[in-house]
Amino acid sequence: MAQQEETFKKIVSHAKEYGFVFPSSEIYDGLGAVYDYGQNGVELKNNIKRYWWDSMTLLHDNIVGIDSAIFMHPTIWKASGHVDAFNDPLIDNRDSKKRYRADVLIEDHIAKMEEKIEKEVAKAKKRFGETFDEALFRETNPRVLEQKAKRDALHERFAAAMNNNDLEDLKQIIIDQEIVCPISGTKNWTDVRQFNLMFSTEMGSTADGAMTVYLRPETAQGIFVNYLNVQKTGRMRLPFGIAQIGKAFRNEIVARQFIFRMREFEQMEMQFFVRPGEELNWFAQWKEWRLKWHKALGLHNAQYRYHDHEKLAHYANAATDIEFEMPFGFKEVEGIHSRTNFDLSQHEKFSGKNIKYFDPELNESYTPYVIETSIGVDRMFLSVLCSSYEEQQLEGGDSRVVLHLPAPLAPVKCAVMPLVRKDGLPEKAREIVNDLKFDFSTHYEEKDSIGKRYRRQDAIGTPYCITVDHQTLEDGTVTLRERDSMEQTRVAVADLHKIIHEKVSLTSLLRKLA
Ligand code: GAP
Repeated sequence: MAQQEETFKKIVSHAKEYGFVFPSSEIYDGLGAVYDYGQNGVELKNNIKRYWWDSMTLLHDNIVGIDSAIFMHPTIWKASGHVDAFNDPLIDNRDSKKRYRADVLIEDHIAKMEEKIEKEVAKAKKRFGETFDEALFRETNPRVLEQKAKRDALHERFAAAMNNNDLEDLKQIIIDQEIVCPISGTKNWTDVRQFNLMFSTEMGSTADGAMTVYLRPETAQGIFVNYLNVQKTGRMRLPFGIAQIGKAFRNEIVARQFIFRMREFEQMEMQFFVRPGEELNWFAQWKEWRLKWHKALGLHNAQYRYHDHEKLAHYANAATDIEFEMPFGFKEVEGIHSRTNFDLSQHEKFSGKNIKYFDPELNESYTPYVIETSIGVDRMFLSVLCSSYEEQQLEGGDSRVVLHLPAPLAPVKCAVMPLVRKDGLPEKAREIVNDLKFDFSTHYEEKDSIGKRYRRQDAIGTPYCITVDHQTLEDGTVTLRERDSMEQTRVAVADLHKIIHEKVSLTSLLRKLA
């Protein structure tokens, strides 16, 4: 774990050093859980968004996109349940004056109990060596069994307190478990209170009656309230989907793990409208399609798993998360939910408007059911970054940091380098850049030794480096170096376009999904 934490720290500083992610407002000491994307970060982010957008809108002829406003009528958030129930339980420590999410304090405590169990197992494994039967040990060792029983009992009590919104018991759990503030080390806790995660502001001047509006905490509601506009103007028939990419805002109490939990972030959401009764088949289908989308990237060392929800929100009849193994454990990157007709029915009720769909085949009107796929752009970015990062020891004692980014997502596709800054090589290199730049993001690099230039491109994940030397002027060939294998081949300048295109085009990625 300590090793993974160390690696994660390195990834965060690499992201800053190479222009991927900067802390927001850094010269003013930053703003909690808000980040800016730098020159390479924005390209990587845009490529992730393009991959998602094209996979939805190009590959499915029944999915279209929209771009709804961030500000929406406040009643929308009443109807969706966000005004009343989009809360986290918070607790303050009176000594450190630090604020925590009560549920996170308890979850961390449960994680520590799990660590104790794993430590017992690891100790025994070391002691018994080859002959160790881990399954038997887990089932029979008294210390492990005692820890497990304690953990399960706590888990059950915690789940009940969360489900019943029992804030008193959440506090009592913290007291009973003797959980201390990580800063002050004391148990001097306030009561647990509910804290709404929506940011609000005023629209209009106070003189003419300002209205409280919210910064949207999800993009989905912009799709729900527009579904009939899209259906009618696009003459869509069920099943059909609406995709949207946009900013969302949540006043997270505890913001942790870099861009994993942010206060301003971006979502890529798709609502798929289906006939009532058909939703569970579509849910299974989208669950499969979405994992395929992730896996098509072929991320280096990537690990995924589904986490099916056992306890469902009152409006859902199936839900799963796609979790990705980050350096700090398996974490949710995407949620797939069968949301029944809850949201549309609520909007019908609160707006007083008929927003039913008329089904010409059945000759009847009804409220469609909805399958939602919802993925955080920033979490996707983080999973791509973490799984791509590698420190490599090379032959001859040299080393490099390389980002094995999937080539279609790489911020820069190729870098063109004159071997020396004379003899007409820079001019030739510029000529090649001027040809390639219309199709690929291309860098021109002439500073430092070729080795250093390669390292800089490896560090930002550039799939190809092209070196122009004296032979280029004679026979029109260049050295093409591939990032991962570091293999160098001699190719004709005239073939560069085709070779690069095959590797970096989004089309090749999309074809894997078709
Ligand atoms: N419309 C459904 C919805 O918003 P969610 O599980 O709350 O569901 C969906 O969010 C996705 O948005 C998550 O899987 C995650 O990738 C991303 N997300 C949520 N909160 C986030 C935060 N504070 N920072 C970064 N990404 C976040």
